[in-house]
Amino acid sequence: MKILNVFGTRPEAIKMAPLVKKLSREKKIKSICAVTAQHRQMLDQVLDIFRIKPEYDLNIMTENQPLQHIAARCMEGLLKIYKKEKPDLVLVQGDTSTTLAGALSAHYSRIPVGHVEAGLRSGDPFNPFPEENNRRLTDILSDFNFAPTRHSRENLLKDNIAESSIFVTGNTVIDALMEASRSAAEPENSALRNMDTKGRIVLVTAHRRENIGQGIENICRAVKKLSGQFKDVLFVYPVHMNPAVKNTAARILRGRKNVLLLTPLSYPDMVWLLQRVYICLSDSGGIQEEAPALGKPVVVLRKVTERPEAVEAGTVRVAGTDIDDIINAAGELLSDPELYSRFSRSANPYGDGKASDRIAAYIMYKFGFSQEEPEQWKM
Ligand code: UD1
Repeated sequence: MKILNVFGTRPEAIKMAPLVKKLSREKKIKSICAVTAQHRQMLDQVLDIFRIKPEYDLNIMTENQPLQHIAARCMEGLLKIYKKEKPDLVLVQGDTSTTLAGALSAHYSRIPVGHVEAGLRSGDPFNPFPEENNRRLTDILSDFNFAPTRHSRENLLKDNIAESSIFVTGNTVIDALMEASRSAAEPENSALRNMDTKGRIVLVTAHRRENIGQGIENICRAVKKLSGQFKDVLFVYPVHMNPAVKNTAARILRGRKNVLLLTPLSYPDMVWLLQRVYICLSDSGGIQEEAPALGKPVVVLRKVTERPEAVEAGTVRVAGTDIDDIINAAGELLSDPELYSRFSRSANPYGDGKASDRIAAYIMYKFGFSQEEPEQWKM
């Protein structure tokens, strides 16, 4: 059978990489990749690291293009690839515009769709925007919904998604994290190599569309104040390439002694850093999944999260983007060792590192290459 993997941004590539590798080892499957390159530099960094050479590259990124352009250009480009390759299954991941466009154009071509990381819900269509509805629509369009957790399975059922389409796998990000954590290599980024890792480090990341503008402004102002209050703590901020994020971060934070502004890190460097940080301040989805697995508390810079599992496990705290709320949540973790030790118990609500194996086994079973029905992840 032929599987076409479609992805386009950095996080999709990180989360698809373990599955692409796994599928490439299956003799009965021909697995090929089409990237939309909704992100150019940040995607290429991941493709290099995981040694993935996509068969197709739509190269759609231009600066600050509207969502409609992203989706339309993905759909047009993918139509040609679907027509030529006639895949038996299209796999998409997550909740970006590439994800939805990949699933919708496959559906229009009557090609079955598998959605990796199905069933996440924040319950608010504008938070995160447009991701919440991207993933809901993708779930509806998909014949196979690979739900990372039992909670995401329940979300799918509440949305009347057919139970027979749902398979609980764990999140492939934990597969990627476990593989990257095994490496003992020095970071490739020279600022990280030269950084003093004896003191406490706070990782900051922010890029969400709904945070662009006032949100990012507030986050940077909060980090500026925190860096004044906690002079012994180093704030490391790898800044997303979106100009609206880059310019604000530079304007507010450049030149501060204990704030290190970096260009986007390679995945191995990010994992190296995550292993060494004290806490994270982030609006990213991936970091909310990775940090708990390493026992690192996260202050979530969003009003709601579609990943409540780690909040329930007690390692993640949702603070929003109000300056004082961020300062209070981070300040407490930095100054109260007892609170910190409660938040820094490692928890693995998102996976056990075998999600890609389960997804591949399920596809083999469903397409008749194996008689054995694989087990779902029990967590
Ligand atoms: C996208 C996804 C979001 C995901 C995020 C991860 C959508 C709607 N959003 O948001 O779900 O969490 O990626 O990063 O699909 N840019 C570069 N070089 C790059 C990447 C981006 O210059 O390698 C700049 C471009 O100017 C681009 C802008 O960043 O226009 C924003 O990129 P875009 O893909 O539109 O949205 P993200 O905010 O990155």
